[in-house]
Amino acid sequence: PLQLTLAIMKPHVVSCPFSLHDIRRTILDNGFYVVRSKRQTIKLEQAEQFYSEHKAKFFYNRLITFMTSGPSEAYILAREDAISVWRHLMGPTKVFRCQLSNPDSIRAKHGLTDTRNATHGSDSDESVRQEISIIVPQFCFEHWKQTE
Ligand code: CMP
Repeated sequence: PLQLTLAIMKPHVVSCPFSLHDIRRTILDNGFYVVRSKRQTIKLEQAEQFYSEHKAKFFYNRLITFMTSGPSEAYILAREDAISVWRHLMGPTKVFRCQLSNPDSIRAKHGLTDTRNATHGSDSDESVRQEISIIVPQFCFEHWKQTE
């Protein structure tokens, strides 16, 4: 069965045509369907809601400032095991670790720092629903189920 996930191309990727093209290629080469795509500059309230679990972390302000700094692209992706496949393609959150252990991963190739780590991917079905409702509120899950 197809599973949905939310992938976000972060602002430094969207402003770099080479990175954006390379990551889109990786998405298509790995058999994902792009169900919906949306380019937007994420608003402060959206970013705060999206990253509420990180509110107490030392990197929170940096993260919010970065994510609202310019256009991002959100892709709703569908595939069998979409969540884990996308997270595997991205590699670990921390870019330096990623460059050692997963040198071919998206974050190793296109991440700049632990904050500007190229892409985001949801970590569970519940996060997918919650994150899509914040970033792509127009998306209708009921309609998707019927067309699946
Ligand atoms: P993301 O997958 O969007 O989810 C949480 C984000 O917080 C993460 O990607 C990074 O952008 C950021 N982040 C996580 N850990 C750190 C860290 N140690 N230092 C700075 N930013 C971080």
